[in-house]
Amino acid sequence: MRNSELAISIKALTKFYENFQALNKISFEVKRGDFFAFLGPNGAGKTTTINVLTGLSNYQNGQVKVFGYDVTSEYLHSRRLIGLCAQESNFDPFLTIYQLLVYQAEYFGIIPWEAKRRANELLDRFGLAEKRNCKHRALSGGMKKRLLLCRALIHDPEILILDEPTSGCDLELKFLIWDYLLQLNKEGKTIFLTTHYMEEAEKLCKTIGIINNGTIVRIGDKKQILQDKSLQDVFLEITGIE
Ligand SMILES: Nc1ncnc2c1ncn2[C@@H]1O[C@H](COP(=O)(O)OP(=O)(O)OP(=O)(O)O)[C@@H](O)[C@H]1O
Ligand SMILES: [Mg+2]
Repeated sequence: MRNSELAISIKALTKFYENFQALNKISFEVKRGDFFAFLGPNGAGKTTTINVLTGLSNYQNGQVKVFGYDVTSEYLHSRRLIGLCAQESNFDPFLTIYQLLVYQAEYFGIIPWEAKRRANELLDRFGLAEKRNCKHRALSGGMKKRLLLCRALIHDPEILILDEPTSGCDLELKFLIWDYLLQLNKEGKTIFLTTHYMEEAEKLCKTIGIINNGTIVRIGDKKQILQDKSLQDVFLEITGIE
């Protein structure tokens, strides 16, 4: 890896959807090994930022790097280092969930026997082994969330980017995901997640970044941010509690 210290480096990133400006010169960094929560109300620009990081969206200005690799000009390098758990499921409807995982692993250059081993291991780990021959539409909402996680992890990425990984999950699954993410972080993986649950950010992360209307409001240590009285109104907006 080219830059082992900075997992994410975003400088003056500006993104328009036609005439609408979704990101306005945002800049921030995420250190290797950090557990970073990216918070903001609906429409703040979180998913847009993730789409840029993972090469799914273009952008008009700025510089975006993952472990030192430019997400545009060095896309193949940067994308290989990211495990993406998207906000919504987007699976091939014709494949079984086992095939989905194996193909995803092979897409990242993992040899077939190892791809199959990893797929089985992850399906087992997330309680989906019995469903391995089902298509994803035959899964419940919580199971689809688990499958998204399996797919994000299949190529053993350096950074996991998770867009609201526990929304719609029951308590048991939420705790399973939390435990797993904490364990991965302990093992040295960098984690970047978005959430509307302050409890989730408080329990899991080390650093918090807040975005609102496409502008970075604050980045800092979790404790300092959560204790900052001037941010209470933004927190209410993020959680949706009146
Ligand atoms: N494909 C698109 N075309 C046009 N506008 C878009 C598109 N995707 C997002 N936007 C707009 O960009 C803004 C930021 O959206 P984004 O999805 O990044 O928000 P978010 O912070 O992820 O919100 P949420 O918490 O609801 O998931 C919103 O105003 C949204 O309507
Ligand atoms: Mg979003």
